[in-house]
Amino acid sequence: EVVDASGKYILPGAIDAHVHFRDPGYTHKETWETGTASAAMGGVTTVFEMPNTNPPTGTVEALNLKLKSAEQAYVDFGIYGLLGEENLTELEALIEGGVAGFKCFMGNTFGNLPSPPTGAILEGFEIVAKHGYRIALHAENASIMARRSKKLKEAGRCDPLAHLDARPPVVATEAVSRAAILAEWTGARIHILHVSSGDELRPLREAKARGVDITAETCPHYLLLDERAYTEKKSLIRVNPPVREKTHQDQLWAAVQDGTIDMIATDHAPHSHEEKHKDDIWTTDCGFTGVQTQMPLMLTQVGAGRLALTDYVRMTSLAPAKAFGLYPRKGALLPGSDADLVVIDMERETQVDSAKLKSKGSSTPFHGHAAKGAPVHTLVRGRFVMRDGALVTEAKGHGRNVRRIQQMPTPKPRNVETTTAAIVKKNRR
Ligand code: NCD
Ligand code: ZN
Ligand code: ZN
Repeated sequence: EVVDASGKYILPGAIDAHVHFRDPGYTHKETWETGTASAAMGGVTTVFEMPNTNPPTGTVEALNLKLKSAEQAYVDFGIYGLLGEENLTELEALIEGGVAGFKCFMGNTFGNLPSPPTGAILEGFEIVAKHGYRIALHAENASIMARRSKKLKEAGRCDPLAHLDARPPVVATEAVSRAAILAEWTGARIHILHVSSGDELRPLREAKARGVDITAETCPHYLLLDERAYTEKKSLIRVNPPVREKTHQDQLWAAVQDGTIDMIATDHAPHSHEEKHKDDIWTTDCGFTGVQTQMPLMLTQVGAGRLALTDYVRMTSLAPAKAFGLYPRKGALLPGSDADLVVIDMERETQVDSAKLKSKGSSTPFHGHAAKGAPVHTLVRGRFVMRDGALVTEAKGHGRNVRRIQQMPTPKPRNVETTTAAIVKKNRR
């Protein structure tokens, strides 16, 4: 199978550490088939899928249901198990069952999974820390948000900016700080999802400086859109956490440049057209599609000189592979790596078009955005899943669970003797 790659770049495929494929439970929004087809078209060779499905991925039974749905996958995948107050006794069984990491909802979002009290989060961290698996956090403070939303609703606010007002940066910053303290105490590895504000960067930087194993991601919408877009995009732009003022965007770019932010993930969160287009911001579902638009949008930034191509590859492939224990099988082009490849054409000009996305819930605030730079071929473990810009439909079902690919290294626990908890204990003796 010869392809002409002259004038193009061959990169390790993107690894998106944050997607919602909705299956089982909300298959009118997305399925494993449509979600991973969209990934293949977007140059993404591995995805990490979130547990806010129905049933939520908090038991081995629910995990097995999801793994059944995932048999349709075009690309490789990891599954996040839920870390909640009700399923602390299930966490080790979930590891045994093949999850790639855990997800804890500290704040309310789509699916309405309850945010565990801090005591339960601590216990969950202690259990998972023994196995070295990373815990991803939706770091928003549920209590602050609930009180603010209630007041805004009582005052009759239902305009797009009401959503931004319900979730000021302190909501996220408080949760990031708390999560970092719990991780420091327990030795848990954590990952901060969708960093949206400049304020979160301080606790992030401080935790990293203290030696906490903490990684963080931001998403294309926080880097490329700002609060001015609410006027035009209205409820379509509603996402948790919200797209914020330009000053936050500037700080996020600086954090991308200085390495405080490790990854760019998409938070691919598809909803139906009706669910995204409502007059009332509160009844509009949060989030939008992203797995297929990340690469053209971000390569446009590379072409414009805002991000080096090597940094782009680090943030979208190498860093997630390392953080979730997949490196060097994934995230690299080394002897022994899987041939997870994307061929990109930096000269190719396209326009984001909802109608052309393979995702079911294809509404996006980026509709109409011009892009320069696009994936043209995607290969997963040596097999084309997208070729010459077209989905290879025969590759449906080629995707594998990363925890089940032979010889994929399993995470090693950290040395728990160096955690705050262990030091305090030792000093007491
Ligand atoms: C996500 C979803 O729809 O599942 N929505 C969102 O606004 N980001 C959930 C989440 O990541 O918070
Ligand atoms: Zn979230
Ligand atoms: Zn999400």
